[in-house]
Amino acid sequence: MRPNCFFTILTIVLLAYSCEQQSSSSAGFKDDTETATLANVFEDNFYIGTALGAQHITGENAKATELIQTQFNAITPENIMKWMHIHPGRDSFNFDLPDQFVALGEANDMHIVGHTLVWHSQTAPWVNDIADSAAMAAVMEQHINTIMGRYKGRVHGWDVVNEALNEDGSLRESIFLKTMGEAYLKRAFDLAAAADPDAELYYNDYNLCEPAKRAGCIEMIKKLQADGTKIDGVGIQGHFYMNTPSLEEIEKTIREFSALGLKVMFTEVDISVLPTPWGLRGADVNQNFEGGNIMDPYQEGLPDSVAVSLGKRYADIFRLFLKYDENISRVTFWGVDDGHSWKNNFPIRGRTDYTLLFDRNQEPKVAFDSLMVLKRAE
Ligand code: G3I
Repeated sequence: MRPNCFFTILTIVLLAYSCEQQSSSSAGFKDDTETATLANVFEDNFYIGTALGAQHITGENAKATELIQTQFNAITPENIMKWMHIHPGRDSFNFDLPDQFVALGEANDMHIVGHTLVWHSQTAPWVNDIADSAAMAAVMEQHINTIMGRYKGRVHGWDVVNEALNEDGSLRESIFLKTMGEAYLKRAFDLAAAADPDAELYYNDYNLCEPAKRAGCIEMIKKLQADGTKIDGVGIQGHFYMNTPSLEEIEKTIREFSALGLKVMFTEVDISVLPTPWGLRGADVNQNFEGGNIMDPYQEGLPDSVAVSLGKRYADIFRLFLKYDENISRVTFWGVDDGHSWKNNFPIRGRTDYTLLFDRNQEPKVAFDSLMVLKRAE
């Protein structure tokens, strides 16, 4: 068969499958109940969360607000609780948007997650000037006590330490490691446990489905546990691609972290459909590349065949999540809709990616339908 002919037939088959999927799932969705949402379909399994940008907290887009209130029952602030925003000067804190974020969660009876207390990236510049261990320990204490103290009993879980590991599983040379050594990890969790004893405390990182990094993470957590540190859960960020990580590695990751007695969370889920430059994976925000159209092929819209493949990839991953729902307490998407996704600017700025379940008009995609029908197949 000539290649052209093969691709034409393949396209027709995929489109037919797409239409069949869309009509059967959408119809099923409507038949069941007009008001079915992600949050209530999965409510017996795990929280379904989303990350909110400042624009969502201030309610700039009514359709996005409606999605947030109806589809999700957990929220994480995408940026506004990061050090540079919430604690920009040694003695200055900015609680305006964080207060609104927490109030929004409370008004909608949501599970509220704080992100993030100790992270090498997006710190305020003055933090990078701290040179010794005692000074950094004092600043960390002020930071954690002030922020967690303000939201004590109101924010239910905190990403206490974020992205402390290199890809080979060793500890990242962050300003915290440089000044305090490995002890900064325990110090952060101990301060957090004292600041709000009822809050859940998490370690959160990307690429934890990669064996070397996962092994390093397990070793780090085992040490913390052996030292009597309170750590309740691990956040597997879940910045995924169409072909990686494999389902096998995701499953191993869930099993291995569960074996530590931790709650497992997928905390920043998105699936990029775009090509990656030089095989880059992960979420290191320091990496950016220049790109042309080859790297940005869907500027005019997502082809049906890719929309169907994305739905299948999401369904495959969520089938695993359902299999381990005893161990998984939360699945949070990293954004509300495709227009909001950070992936439009990473690792190449200004691309058009389609990572989430809702499109740029806040309408449900095939991927949304593919998850809504999953439990009926159980
Ligand atoms: O708000 C400014 C805007 O005023 C300015 O015009 C624009 C110009 O670039 O920048 C805007 O700020 C950007 C901000 O996102 C809000 O959109 C920053 O440049 C950009 O660096 C920042 O990126 C965030 C990134 O973390 C770095 O903090 C992404 O939104 C956010 O999704 C991403 O989230 C991280 C998690 O916290 C940790 N895990 C990895 C994940 C993805 O990198």
